[in-house]
Amino acid sequence: MKTLYLKAEDKDAARVSARILKDGGLVAIPTETVYGLAANALDPEAVKSIFEAKGRPQDNPLIVHVSSLEEAERLVEKMDPRAYALAERFWPGPLTIIMKKSDIVPDAVTAGLDTVAIRMPSHPFAAEIIRLSGVPFAAPSANSSGKPSPTNASHVAQDMDGKIDAIVDGGECEVGVESTVITLATEVPTLLRPGGVTPDELEEVLGKISVSHAVYEKLNEGERVQSPGMKYKHYAPSAQVTIIKGSFANYEKFLKAQNDDVCAVCFNGEGRNFNKFIEYGVEGNSDTQAHRLFDALREVDEMGCARAFVRCPETTGVGLAVYNRLLRSAAFRVIDVDIDIPVIGLTGQTGAGKSTFAELLKEEGYYIVDTDILARKAVESRAVIDQLCKCFGEDIAENGVLDRRELARRAFSSPEKTELLNSVTHPEIIRLTIEEIHRAEAEKARAAVVDAPVLFECALKDMCNFTVCVTAPEEERIERIIMRDSISREDAILRISAQKSEKYYVEKSGIIIKNGQNDDMKIQLVKLNERID
Ligand code: TXA
Ligand code: MG
Repeated sequence: MKTLYLKAEDKDAARVSARILKDGGLVAIPTETVYGLAANALDPEAVKSIFEAKGRPQDNPLIVHVSSLEEAERLVEKMDPRAYALAERFWPGPLTIIMKKSDIVPDAVTAGLDTVAIRMPSHPFAAEIIRLSGVPFAAPSANSSGKPSPTNASHVAQDMDGKIDAIVDGGECEVGVESTVITLATEVPTLLRPGGVTPDELEEVLGKISVSHAVYEKLNEGERVQSPGMKYKHYAPSAQVTIIKGSFANYEKFLKAQNDDVCAVCFNGEGRNFNKFIEYGVEGNSDTQAHRLFDALREVDEMGCARAFVRCPETTGVGLAVYNRLLRSAAFRVIDVDIDIPVIGLTGQTGAGKSTFAELLKEEGYYIVDTDILARKAVESRAVIDQLCKCFGEDIAENGVLDRRELARRAFSSPEKTELLNSVTHPEIIRLTIEEIHRAEAEKARAAVVDAPVLFECALKDMCNFTVCVTAPEEERIERIIMRDSISREDAILRISAQKSEKYYVEKSGIIIKNGQNDDMKIQLVKLNERID
């Protein structure tokens, strides 16, 4: 299909669009929130083609757009008095109201639900084509399902060119995130999706409202949802997105510790601190963030980075909408980099007695973060397995379970492949490590001790206030390895020679703990306690 490109300010654009809609076609149009992919809401065939063009799951209902209260009244069983009050205050504008539907609304629009979502857009072009066509239009955001919603015509073209009849360019959308969705079909009005109209504003009209927990949290497996749209991964660029909570100073430190293939998605004026960055609005000004957000997420992909770390927005007012969209684009991955507990790195050569020392620390009230365990946990994550499959072949996992042996065989076949493996697993290990450090914080531990054999080779070292290394004479280490792993002397020596020298560890560490036959580690613990307390 050849897509027709129109400009909203052109004399004929509204008339041509209205004609296409009337004839059962699809037109992407500007609204004040995001671009919508419109079809005649009363024509089931036309509505079906929306789902096809977007690749949208069939059970996700659409919003019907009207230009008058009379039109809204026809779509519902009975207009709720509270809907009149909401309309009076917020229509036309970025608010969608859900009520029991009337018979004229096709099942294709509501995905078989007995309710319908209605909104009166304030964008003059959207309003005009409803008037000209004489029919309300159903319109989801005009993106491919799962991608960030489009806030300008070129975003729409990226996803929809050749799939729909026309795209109308009306410049940038003012609000930038989709409408607020509230349902009046529940006993207490419930906010299903935050947007340009804030919870406080809604309460001014409705009194107490409730907020669906899906606004903030991941749904449980198999949970029934009030708004089907909330269960899908959404607003996601191809890059892996993570929200970073905390001060700018800690954000910067965290990002600097990552490899080069990352993009800082930060507030205006902060970008110059990073190699690759995208700024998404003014800190503390949610309107500017909402306006920029989706464009920024699309830019992440144009930049081609594997991972993006987004500064966490405020979560009040319109900020709640920004946060809600980011949570979904990040598949709920949030890292809090404000750490209020000392973090100590613990490392050393194999056989030196790192684990024995860790046991001692535990008795003294330290919280041990065992990164070996976290490394194993990391490769159980669905997202990590998916990525590993992409890098090392689909056949390294079966039914979501990783074949570790085969992965090791392929990943350790060359330094480049090992590097690739690390680039996939390290970010997840770091995320899990920080999660554990927060647990230590919550348990009021003396300090968190990150026990990591390869501490100095990865970003974990940058999170530690200082590092402790455990050393022991080589001959004693050989003996311990032979005992511990039941291997031959030759193999034990081989293992030791594959590691970095003692000098390497010692030079990089703030405290050295000696663990030879005649050393008492318990006495040496004082050095550490003094530094912490
Ligand atoms: O700002 C907007 O609302 C934009 C513009 C184009 O108007 N439209 C939009 O539509 O965001 P869409 O399809 O991307 O999102 C509609 C949301 C989905 O989460 C859907 O599940 C929910 O509204 N929804 C629609 N009808 C519903 C119903 N009857 N009950 C519960 N949720 C409903
Ligand atoms: Mg959408």
